[in-house]
Amino acid sequence: MAIQRTFSIIKPDATERNLTGAVNAVIEKAGLRIIGQRRIQMTRAQAERFYGVHKERPFFGELVDFMTSGPVVVQVLEGENAVKAYRDVMGATNPADAEEGTIRKLYAKSIGENSVHGSDSEENAAIEIRQFFSEADIAG
Ligand code: TYD
Repeated sequence: MAIQRTFSIIKPDATERNLTGAVNAVIEKAGLRIIGQRRIQMTRAQAERFYGVHKERPFFGELVDFMTSGPVVVQVLEGENAVKAYRDVMGATNPADAEEGTIRKLYAKSIGENSVHGSDSEENAAIEIRQFFSEADIAG
């Protein structure tokens, strides 16, 4: 399997509890390399664009409120099969369903405040990375 990149967000519930380093430790222990990282306050426009696929879902308003409620850490991760590897280490969307040892099992507060985002395909990873990073801010 080739080396891939994926896009990650450490969400406001995690930055608020000072868990950036703890989440990064799980990421690195899983063999993924953090090759780009920036802490930002997302604007509503950025959050609405990022989660545009969920625009019609009942939770969209709350999701945008949450993602703009505090700082997030946007990241580019690299490694073998990185998209799936990161999804695996994140755990299920709802922490109640997440496997032991996953980031969401360890740290997520609820299905909405679930500590991390990870791209669901290589194609979406490229689109999401492009929304937040220029190549000059990534060093693999
Ligand atoms: P989704 O893409 O389904 O999950 P994942 O983050 O695991 O790829 O949903 C995106 C985010 O939307 C999810 O991380 C949290 C929020 N969300 C809710 O608040 N309620 C819900 O019922 C679902 C499905 C998602």
